[in-house]
Amino acid sequence: MSAAAALVQRVLGRVVGRAREIELVVAALAANRHVLLEGPPGTGKSTLLRAVADELGLGFEFVEGNAELTPARLVGHFDPARVLTDGYDPAVFEDGALVTAMRDGSLLYIEEINRIPEETLNVLITVMSERELHVPRLGRVAAASGFRLVAAMNPFDAIGTARISSAVYDRVCRLAVDYQDAPDEVAIVRAALPGAELHDGWLTNVVEVVRRSRTHPDVRIGSSVRGAIDTAAVARTLGEMRGLPAHHRGVGLDAGLVALSGRLRLREGCARTAEDIVRELWQQVFVDSDVSEPDDASGKENAPTGATPVR
Ligand SMILES: Nc1ncnc2c1ncn2[C@@H]1O[C@H](COP(=O)(O)OP(=O)(O)O)[C@@H](O)[C@H]1O
Ligand SMILES: [Mg+2]
Repeated sequence: MSAAAALVQRVLGRVVGRAREIELVVAALAANRHVLLEGPPGTGKSTLLRAVADELGLGFEFVEGNAELTPARLVGHFDPARVLTDGYDPAVFEDGALVTAMRDGSLLYIEEINRIPEETLNVLITVMSERELHVPRLGRVAAASGFRLVAAMNPFDAIGTARISSAVYDRVCRLAVDYQDAPDEVAIVRAALPGAELHDGWLTNVVEVVRRSRTHPDVRIGSSVRGAIDTAAVARTLGEMRGLPAHHRGVGLDAGLVALSGRLRLREGCARTAEDIVRELWQQVFVDSDVSEPDDASGKENAPTGATPVR
């Protein structure tokens, strides 16, 4: 087995599903290419990249992309106080994440790359193609072998992908990442809440509510799997507080309302509230197509499992 194939196997053990995406990301990195992952929030982009970087055993510089990420912050800067005493000595330069990653030959991971200012993007474009950087008064910084840029972005971000110029796209391998299937999303919730006793049928239904929020006609952007994780987490603590199981109908719905309502972005002109839509979906999934509702909704902590999943 090649080193890259062995790496894929190790990453597979840390991420739910995503076999194809992991294989492609590892292949692109092993080929020394820069990578861009594009997909809605909560589709596991960070999870996947963190697992790959960890298993690669390479250094990993993590940068949150936002409007304040100036070139000086990304590249590094001369400490002004020390410049007064020591002048522009290289020892006075404080490396930013980019220079650190270039010197160490590690991965530079930039989240939400579409949010960073134009002039910072331009620095990255140069580094991606030249593998070197000229810093005023410091000189030339060359990228050690192993340096690669990995970026992630949400194509539906208000600060959209239009900002990412074709110059960036021309220098990266791009992988589109979409929502996973329902059984994977159930497994992701379980993995995110280790030790939680979650009724199988109930959790299947919660994931179904979340998935339906993505295609509801009044909803522009529905919830990611994060909404299902939060619903389950809140149902668990709320149930404990009320002395009821998490899958009790009132407990689950209240948890769903608090966990999901803020995540639904409604269509312009829609007169309904997000709570209203969460209630409608809950009714649809838990009552109208009542296949996974625990028999004894007010019952024991470990209600019997084995109900048929919804669709
Ligand atoms: N395939 C997956 N395997 C394990 N956990 C996942 C997976 N996809 C998403 N998650 C979980 O869902 C949450 C959101 O994932 P994250 O990687 O932060 O998404 P993104 O970076 O795309 O916004 C995290 O808590 C993560 O643990
Ligand atoms: Mg992320």
